[in-house]
Amino acid sequence: MRIHDPHRAAAIDLFFDGKRYAAHAGESIAAALFAAGVRSLRVSPRLNQPRGMFCLMGSCQECLVMVDGRRVLACQTPVVTGMHVETVPETGIDV
Ligand code: FES
Repeated sequence: MRIHDPHRAAAIDLFFDGKRYAAHAGESIAAALFAAGVRSLRVSPRLNQPRGMFCLMGSCQECLVMVDGRRVLACQTPVVTGMHVETVPETGIDV
């Protein structure tokens, strides 16, 4: 799905750390947040550096976020209406 595709699905709300963003059904969390200008999805606990999308195919784990108390890969998880996404709590190791 192209970001500027005129045939995108209807806009829905997505919340990331309490802030509302517009997304479109069928997009991954990562794609929706990237289109909204979000580049950092978590902070590396060991290096204290921002982490975001990298491989976009579920291999690198850099896009790890929390949805409903579960860790999910933002690049592999489609958005749903009213979804609340949170930053992964610091674990002390880079995961
Ligand atoms: S961007 Fe690599 S697993 Fe999601």
